Amino acid sequence: MRAGAVLPRVWRGKRAVVLNLIEYIQNATKGVVPMHMPGHKRRTGLAPYLEELAAHIDVTEIPGLDDLHCAEGILKQGMEKTAALWGSRRAFWLVNGSTCGILASLYACVPPRGKVICARNCHRSVYNGLGLLDAMPVYIMPEFDTETGISGPVSVQSVEILLDKNPDAALVVVTSPTYEGVISDIEGICAAAHRRGIPLLVDEAHGAHLGFGSGFPGGAVRAGADIVVHSFHKTLPSLTQTGALHINGDIVDEREIGSALAVFETSSPSYVLMASIAGCVDLIQERGGELFRFWRENLGEFYAGTERLCRLSVKGPAWLRDDSKIVISTACTDMTGTSVSRALREEFRIETEMSSVNYALALTGMGDSAESLSALASALLRLDKAASLAQVRAVPAPVLPGRAMGAAEARRKKSVAVPFGDAAGRVSTEAVWAYPPGIPLIVPGETVSKELIELIELYLSAGVALRGTAGLQPGMLCVTADQS
Ligand SMILES: Cc1ncc(COP(=O)(O)O)c(C=O)c1O
Repeated sequence: MRAGAVLPRVWRGKRAVVLNLIEYIQNATKGVVPMHMPGHKRRTGLAPYLEELAAHIDVTEIPGLDDLHCAEGILKQGMEKTAALWGSRRAFWLVNGSTCGILASLYACVPPRGKVICARNCHRSVYNGLGLLDAMPVYIMPEFDTETGISGPVSVQSVEILLDKNPDAALVVVTSPTYEGVISDIEGICAAAHRRGIPLLVDEAHGAHLGFGSGFPGGAVRAGADIVVHSFHKTLPSLTQTGALHINGDIVDEREIGSALAVFETSSPSYVLMASIAGCVDLIQERGGELFRFWRENLGEFYAGTERLCRLSVKGPAWLRDDSKIVISTACTDMTGTSVSRALREEFRIETEMSSVNYALALTGMGDSAESLSALASALLRLDKAASLAQVRAVPAPVLPGRAMGAAEARRKKSVAVPFGDAAGRVSTEAVWAYPPGIPLIVPGETVSKELIELIELYLSAGVALRGTAGLQPGMLCVTADQS
């Protein structure tokens, strides 16, 4: 639970047991500068619809109110507007986050046991989709920056090589931008996939705001990706769980996507969430130019104000990046990413989105104000003075573990829990990831290597919380009981 530092104070209070969820959230967030999702940043004054969202519009599919899964009226119009704004052939609204869009895309495009060319740094929803289909992933290893410990872009060349070796692949999947804002050459990857008639799915969960000009580069819809999945809540002023799935071109059958969404998305779509999507789309259409400019100017001031940092750095690796995701590197200091996040929380009441060994991530959104960014800049300048320079603590690039069996088969195997340190050579029956970002370090069916154990130990020593699908104690892993 990311708000861990705040929650105990609430629970320790005498009234903790009688607080309802709203009071609870209000208590836990009072006075905290939210350098994290959702993009509306609790600034309900930003636009009237944010103030208005409440139970009085929490209705259901009564006549006149349309049906998300079979839209013909007001919801259809809203989705058409969404497609027009982003420039896609068709847009589907999502009320179960990007997760349901990704699951539905895989289900629609990949036959059972089909082959998928997939970036290894994909979110766990991609792995879950592959697991459900018992699909065969062929991994693209993105570049890696050992100083920050951040995965880089997926190169067109690496995709070309895998496409040549796997002409029977049903789909190519990449994440762009990544959690840390790294953008891949989607046009180039598209061209490579399309030359072979293979569709490209871009998980653009963190980039719904890209491609609108005003200094936010990229935008996978305009780059021609066949399917693009957006979470609105991550960067735009919209409620959590909202997003859109866009379709382009003519390789992907939109009816297949529609029926797959009916499998993975709730049959009771929330009108509160849909009202949020509609409001967000209207807001961008009507005031997008001004709001994107304002966001960009505030970021410009933040980056100008932090040029004086001598030990910490907010420059990020030198790849094409969406710099609305502020990467606070501690690589050359005596601090870790987790200790910077803790100091920001405890000394400055600023909550970051995530932290890792050598960096913390402050996620900005359209809802950020000049004050929130200026508070972050001042806090970083103060922390910079207190930090000492130290030798760079390199984070080794992840090594792709060997695959002993498919994920579906491994999950069904009899398993035993062992300490990570004793797991070398054993086959994992669970996935393990740091959350956020939710990118698995190992998935079921893969063999634990010495390098992986070292990487896990590095994460744990830096205070990065790891989670596994088996829900074991930290430091334990489920492996197949059968060692042969
Ligand atoms: C890259 C990426 N893709 C997909 C998702 C899932 O998005 P959602 O939480 O909207 O379901 C996440 C969540 O953090 C993510 O980081």
